[in-house]
Amino acid sequence: MAPAESTPPPAEPNARSGPPALSPSDQLMQLASGAWVTQMIHVAAELGVADQLASGERSVEELAQACGADADGLFRLLRGLASLDIFEETAPRRFALTPLAELLRSDHPQSLRQFARLVGDEHYLGWADLLHSVRSGEGAFRHRYGMSVFEWYQQNPRRGSIFAGAMGDHSRAQIEALLAAYDFSGITHLVDVGGGQGLLLQKVLAAYPELRGTVFDQPQVVAPVALPPELGGRLTLQGGDFFAAVPAGADAYLLKHIIHDWGDDACLRILGQIRAAMAPGARVLVVEQVIPPGNDPFPGKLLDLNMLVMTEGGRERTPSEYASLLAKAGLSLQRIVPTPSPVSVVEAVAV
Ligand SMILES: C[S@@+](CC[C@H](N)C(=O)[O-])C[C@H]1O[C@@H](n2cnc3c(N)ncnc32)[C@H](O)[C@@H]1O
Repeated sequence: MAPAESTPPPAEPNARSGPPALSPSDQLMQLASGAWVTQMIHVAAELGVADQLASGERSVEELAQACGADADGLFRLLRGLASLDIFEETAPRRFALTPLAELLRSDHPQSLRQFARLVGDEHYLGWADLLHSVRSGEGAFRHRYGMSVFEWYQQNPRRGSIFAGAMGDHSRAQIEALLAAYDFSGITHLVDVGGGQGLLLQKVLAAYPELRGTVFDQPQVVAPVALPPELGGRLTLQGGDFFAAVPAGADAYLLKHIIHDWGDDACLRILGQIRAAMAPGARVLVVEQVIPPGNDPFPGKLLDLNMLVMTEGGRERTPSEYASLLAKAGLSLQRIVPTPSPVSVVEAVAV
C-alpha cells in the first residue's frame, strides 16, 4: 500500500484546475467572442446580481426572483461567469461573490457596476459599427444614432446618469494614482474642465487643504451634484460650455479624458478658451493615456478605438502629437508625468 502522503487529496467539489494552455486557434476564438463576455458581465450588472449576494451566497431560484430573471437563464449566465472567476458556484445551483464579482456591487468603493452597464448598451451598439468607422474614419455612434454621444445623453438623461457614474467608476483607481504621482502643492485654484460629478476634485481638495476647486461641466451634469460639507465651501460647481468659455483667473486647469474626446480642431477651441482664461503663470494639466511606441500591450491602444467609434475625431495621442497640439494652442509642453495607472499628466504652460 502506498504511503498516505503520496495519495492525492480528493478533489473539492467545485475546485478549478489551472487554465489549460490554449492553441492559437482557441486563443483567437476566445478573443473573437469577447463580445459574449461583455454582454454576460453587462447583464449581471444590469440585473444587480452582485448586490443580491452582498450578504452571502444564495440559490439561483432566490436570485432569479429577487432580480426579475428566469431561473434557468440566470443559472446559465452565472455558470458561464463562474468559469471566468466572476461569481462562484459553491454548491449545485448556489452562487456567491468572488473578488471580481465584488466589483459589480453598487456599494463597493471600487465599484465598476455602472461601467459594466455602460459598455454593454449604447457603447456596444456603437462598436457593432466599428467596420463603418475603420472604412470611413467617421464615428460609428453618429452613424447609428444620428447625433453625437453627448447630444444623445442630453436626450436620454437616465443613460446619461449611467455614463456619468461609469466615468466615476473608470476614474476611481486613476485618481489615487494621480494623487500619488502628481504634486498639486503651490496651486491655489484648480478648475476641472469637464470634471463630471467632481469626484477627482473632491479627492484632490481633501488631500490639499489650501486648495480651492471649481468643477466645470455641462449644466445638466453638475446640477444634481451634492457638494460634501466637509470641504467647507472650497469646492464650487459651474455649468457651461467649454467651447464658449471656462472660469477665468485660475492658476491650474485640469482636463481629464476631455482632449481624447475631440479632434484637433475642437481641442484647439477648448484649449483656446483655457489659454484666454488662465491667470499669468498658470498651468494646464491634460490627464490622458499617452500612447507609447511599439507593440506592447497598453489599455490606451484599445481606448483609442473606443474614441474612434464613440466620438467624432476623438483619439488617444502620442507625446509628439500632444506637443504639437499644445503648441498650436499657444501652450508649451513642459513634461509628461507618468502615474501608477495607465494615465499620465501632460503639463503645459502658456508660451
Ligand atoms: C469622458 S467624460 C470625462 C469626465 C471626467 N473628466 C472624468 O475623467 O471622469 C467627458 C466630460 O466632458 C463633458 N462635456 C462634454 N461636452 C462639454 C461641453 N461642451 N462643455 C462642458 N463639458 C462638456 C461631459 O459632460 C463629460 O462629463
